[in-house]
Amino acid sequence: MTNRWIFAVLSVCLGIPSVASAQPKVDMSRGELLYTTHCIACHNEQIHWRDKKIAKDWGGLKAQVSHWQGVAGLAWSDSDIVEVARYLNVRHYHYPERVQ
Ligand code: HEC
Repeated sequence: MTNRWIFAVLSVCLGIPSVASAQPKVDMSRGELLYTTHCIACHNEQIHWRDKKIAKDWGGLKAQVSHWQGVAGLAWSDSDIVEVARYLNVRHYHYPERVQ
């Protein structure tokens, strides 16, 4: 019991500074991180709330994300694509998310 307490206290003491310095924006989701790292360069956010959207539903949005990560040569996995599509959906599109 005592050892476990010492371990817990130690990991908290050692953990907090490293978490704080390694991840200054802990509230950023993986999708947001990927998008802001790789996608914002060419188009600003306005592209996602213009009237004539290309992405007309959840499937179309995923297809666009998949297309653009290909254009950028990123070779994202399906889960990366879903994470970014989900981030954009929550933030801009608000389509019902379907399993496809
Ligand atoms: C080479 C520049 C470029 C890069 C890099 C890029 N985009 Fe785009 N994106 C565009 C342009 C230009 C359009 C508008 C195309 C049109 O209107 O026909 C667009 C449109 C889109 C749309 C559709 C918007 C709508 O109308 O609903 C999505 C979604 C999108 N991009 C996601 C991404 C994602 C995710 C990434 C990162 C993997 C990315 N883009 C990277 C240039 C880029």
